[in-house]
Amino acid sequence: MKLEEMFATRADRLKASEIRELLKLLDQPDIISFAGGIPDPALFPAEAFQAAYTRALDAQHQAKALQYSVSEGYLPLREWLADHMASIGVPCDVDNILITSGSQQALDYLGKLMLSPGDTALVNWPTYLGALAAFNAYEPRFDRLDLGVNHDVSDYAERAEAAGGRVKFAYLSADFSNPTGETVDAAGRVRLLDMADTLDCAIIEDGAYQALRYDGQAIKPILAMELDQKGDLEACRTIYCGSFSKTLSPGLRVGWIVAAKPVIAKLVLMKQAADLHSPTINQMAIHGVAEACFYEHVSNLRAAYSARRDAMLAALADHMPEGVEWTRPEGGMFVWITLPKGMDGATLLDRAVREERVAFVPGGAFFADGSGTNTIRLSFSNSDKTAIDEGVARLGAVLRRSLSD
Ligand SMILES: Cc1ncc(COP(=O)(O)O)c(C=O)c1O
Repeated sequence: MKLEEMFATRADRLKASEIRELLKLLDQPDIISFAGGIPDPALFPAEAFQAAYTRALDAQHQAKALQYSVSEGYLPLREWLADHMASIGVPCDVDNILITSGSQQALDYLGKLMLSPGDTALVNWPTYLGALAAFNAYEPRFDRLDLGVNHDVSDYAERAEAAGGRVKFAYLSADFSNPTGETVDAAGRVRLLDMADTLDCAIIEDGAYQALRYDGQAIKPILAMELDQKGDLEACRTIYCGSFSKTLSPGLRVGWIVAAKPVIAKLVLMKQAADLHSPTINQMAIHGVAEACFYEHVSNLRAAYSARRDAMLAALADHMPEGVEWTRPEGGMFVWITLPKGMDGATLLDRAVREERVAFVPGGAFFADGSGTNTIRLSFSNSDKTAIDEGVARLGAVLRRSLSD
């Protein structure tokens, strides 16, 4: 018997990315890697976590910390989040909030909740690879969300219908997106809200990097703008996904969803069926650390990461050959590079690792249609200034050689 023959058709869509396999090899000490979009572990608030876990396991709290709990999430954390969301323009009740195991689980649940096979999800070209992977399991088709140009919105609906479904949602990261680092301006956010009203679809706003702004004016979340327009969260079509991964720690796997109550009620049932609840002890620890030092810690992160962003932009200006372009992010962890036409990011990675011991992520995987092969993503969050200077110089050297070959 071949167990593979027992797999459902949707399992065909689960493919290991070659890039992920290649990136596994990058742990060698002489490689400078701009590949992983991860926080610098030296900046974790480790002492605050130690104190929070000690408290969660003391005589007063251990029964709660170690017992089964409710699917909605740890109430004091949801209360803290209700205040936090109000501080970014989204006042809400705790009943508008579900705690998830990272925002990755939120994306999976929202795909499961909304996508029937053949439905359409609108995503940016490029978009977060993990969102494509999460939605893909529910067998949608993807169409290109491009807020920079004026679309005839009815085209989206017609294409979706022709494919046998309808547009269910537009997914995007409006602040400092992964992979490009770019931000959607206020006008773009309003355009998206208008477009979603016309299409009568949901918006999934991924706020994973929202807190990590280094300069420029903060722009209200899309959900906050919609709330201003409609006056009631229950009337809003935007679903906001948040995460503590980029601010406090990704290892605890704590994220959250804010949405109208009927959406949360259904997601709670989904969470019950999937994993009952996210680990209570981790939610308690995140709550303890958030209460103790969230805003102060985020302000320290901003200072550290913005210096690295500046170092990377300066090094790119010094070392990139003519014909290479890059984004200038106001926050987040990424700079997105467009190589001269015809150059392939995956081929360049192979050469960069072999010849110069420098690594990054080729951009093609972030495009739902497999285009964009002449792009690469660099992350500046996990390298110090010396490594950034040296790594970008090495990248410049291999690029120059590739261009002259
Ligand atoms: C844009 C974006 N959304 C969501 C996630 C998932 O993060 P987590 O599940 O750790 O909250 C990531 C992680 O890299 C991300 O870049």
